[in-house]
Amino acid sequence: MKILSVTSEIYPLIKTGGLADVTGSLPKALAPLGIETTSLIPGYPKVMKQLGQSTTLMEFEDLLGEKATLRHGSVEGLDLLVLDAPALYDRPGGPYVDQFGKDHADNWKRFAVLSLAAAEIAAGALPGWVPDLVHTHDWQSAMTSVYMRQNGCSTPVVITIHNIAFQGQYSADLLPWLGLPPEAYSIDQLEYFGDISFLKGGLQTADVITTVSPTYAREILTPRFGMGLNGVLNERVEVLRGIVNGIDLDVWDPATDEFLPQTFDIATLRRKRDNRQPLLDRFGLDPDDRGPIFAAISRMTWQKGIDMLAETADEVIHNGGRVIIVGEGDHDIEQALLETAARYPGRMAVHIGYDEPTAHLVQGGADAIVQPSRFEPCGLTQLYALRYGCVPVVSRTGGLSETIIDANDAAMSARVATGFQFHPVTTNGLRLALRRALHAYEQPKMWARLQNQGMKTKFSWERSGQQYAAVYRSLVQKASPNTG
Ligand code: ADP
Ligand code: GLC
Repeated sequence: MKILSVTSEIYPLIKTGGLADVTGSLPKALAPLGIETTSLIPGYPKVMKQLGQSTTLMEFEDLLGEKATLRHGSVEGLDLLVLDAPALYDRPGGPYVDQFGKDHADNWKRFAVLSLAAAEIAAGALPGWVPDLVHTHDWQSAMTSVYMRQNGCSTPVVITIHNIAFQGQYSADLLPWLGLPPEAYSIDQLEYFGDISFLKGGLQTADVITTVSPTYAREILTPRFGMGLNGVLNERVEVLRGIVNGIDLDVWDPATDEFLPQTFDIATLRRKRDNRQPLLDRFGLDPDDRGPIFAAISRMTWQKGIDMLAETADEVIHNGGRVIIVGEGDHDIEQALLETAARYPGRMAVHIGYDEPTAHLVQGGADAIVQPSRFEPCGLTQLYALRYGCVPVVSRTGGLSETIIDANDAAMSARVATGFQFHPVTTNGLRLALRRALHAYEQPKMWARLQNQGMKTKFSWERSGQQYAAVYRSLVQKASPNTG
């Protein structure tokens, strides 16, 4: 079975968050199940640089007025179609924002063009290659199925919601520029509270909607988590599924991780201790005095609740611990955290920036990973934490609630606890959870048990890969019942 995955990010070529980790690792999980994934991605400068040798497959003469070249290449086992359109993608900054952190003003066009190219490929534009199914991810590729249905292409489509907070909402005045007829601006397609929404268009025209955990699938049916799209999702609940993310066991493996001064696994967990001093040095913190290191690696946005750490870091520090925070995002959150760190020199460090090796080092050397998200579709950082012998302290929401087992008495005596959860998601809730974790750290046997149970958790894509495969197969079977 041949899948066209359409995505704005893919690890290791271009990443701003977990979306890239998932689109980069799912194809590898599906390959042994007989599913070949080809990923269509924009030709950002970083992508073009890493693509190396590629072949030119075809030229698009008019994608909403833009010319683009479709290139084919392969990077670390990923089969890639790269949409090389310099006017849209060859510019400074990241995939979504410019070098000053402002959204690219033509994002609507950049991602509508990506989607239109995908729709044309699905309809057979590429000689000799037609996918059996198209898989789109988030608002950036959601328009693919809108264009496909508009052009009469009935190839099955799965859309995955990684984060419903980002919806691609634009003025309805754009409609003619999107190359769509007035009928597309209807309540069962793009119309969204007087605007248009790319994500809504995708949710209305795909065959199956998945999101990245069963809990989040239920949450987004409510007004609080559905963020305006709960009505649409309730109407399509029959085709809504939650499939929890797996992790790439090769990229995130403490036994082989090249970014760790000392590698380790469950049998040699003691060696994790050797990463402690290098980690403290990296962040200019006081040398060791045995207190725990609590860390966070996160986009700094309201979603992540990371602002609450500015108010609660004192709990850790006054109890002999240290705090390390790595991330970037909202200026106000960055500022609040930097100000808190300035009050605790040698005890708390905040690194503003995006840096993959540092993220690995933190996982390798820290004791606890804090993730106080206000909502979290799945979350990967807590899964990496489990594998690296860090104990997660998380809010009870979305994927966090089903991937971490709270260390309550029942779970401790059943020997299944892996971390600490708190609810409601408030500063005081977080403070109490930090206190519980600090208390547990003072009991080395209990802490070791939590680490051990966490490291034994099954994180792989095996089960979730099979769930995606089952969704794909049933759709492809329905679309052409007489073939495979
Ligand atoms: P989200 O996709 O919402 O940001 P996830 O937990 O699913 O959250 O994925 C976050 C991913 O981004 C992880 O791979 C994490 O290590 C990485 N990450 C987040 N912030 C940084 C940062 N500042 N530097 C390096 N990696 C980061
Ligand atoms: C989004 C979500 C995160 C999820 C990731 C990958 O960025 O915020 O919870 O893990 O996508 O699916």
